[in-house]
Amino acid sequence: MTKTLEEHLEGIDSELASLILKISSIANAISNELPYRRGKANTKNVFGELQLVVDKWADQFLINELRKSGLVKTVASEEQPDLVKLNEEGIFNITLDPLDGSSNIESNNLVGTIVGIYKKDLPTQGKHQIAAMYILYGPVTTLVYTAQNGVHEFLHTKKGFVFREESIKLPEPGKLYGIGGLRKDWLPSFRKYVEELEMEGYKLRYGGAFVGDFNQVLHYGGLFAYPALTTNPNGKLRLLVESNPISFIAREAEGASTNGKCSILEVEPEHIDQRIPTYIGNKNLIEKLEKILR
Ligand code: F6P
Ligand code: MN
Repeated sequence: MTKTLEEHLEGIDSELASLILKISSIANAISNELPYRRGKANTKNVFGELQLVVDKWADQFLINELRKSGLVKTVASEEQPDLVKLNEEGIFNITLDPLDGSSNIESNNLVGTIVGIYKKDLPTQGKHQIAAMYILYGPVTTLVYTAQNGVHEFLHTKKGFVFREESIKLPEPGKLYGIGGLRKDWLPSFRKYVEELEMEGYKLRYGGAFVGDFNQVLHYGGLFAYPALTTNPNGKLRLLVESNPISFIAREAEGASTNGKCSILEVEPEHIDQRIPTYIGNKNLIEKLEKILR
């Protein structure tokens, strides 16, 4: 019989299992609302990006539902300028990218929800996560999580989230690469590195949603980057809500991450809305890249 997410979570700490299940049900409700919550909200988030109706709604919905769960103490969300306090008695502190890749909404390409889970107070280094997960709203809605027990994937069906693949590891050698930013703005050393990847046969696939672009690296191996740019030395992605949870999942899947100098998980955040150059993929690719960028 196919295992459900709930059954798969039986082996882990019961409160953490409840939190992961709660987030999975909220995400499913978000997926159901995507056809209806359309259009621009005419407001900007703390990063100066125009918000969509669905960005704001997903953020509020997640925060309200998590507040009701009583499990969460504090949330750092991409859509909120400050940490949001939920329950003094809560056990977990979490980071949220409620709707990653929301510029893909208009063209009906991939979007997703990214969550980092901590017991330590935020902000702190990504290596202190106890679990991380994402939900990808694609042709099929999928959920990927790790609670430091390997990386596991579930498919959303009429029976809820059911098991698809256990202990996923980035395939070796990898096949793909996806890189954000304008090529003319990449650092020359990075551009040369990418040319070498192309010569080795890595194929370009870039979809414009971090969660989707990483998900293909998880399944086919290779490299995702939103690199340091000559115009933006810190790149685009947010350390707390984007790069840390995905780096944590990549590490559990025997991949690696770097900001060009060290693992992203080692970076001490200075503020909650910090951006970071992000390179994630197979270990050998990241090691070689770090030598070039250091
Ligand atoms: O959240 C930021 C984000 O939407 C990521 O999901 C994605 O990797 C990136 O921005 C895409 O940026 P660009 O539109 O510059 O390719
Ligand atoms: Mn995002």
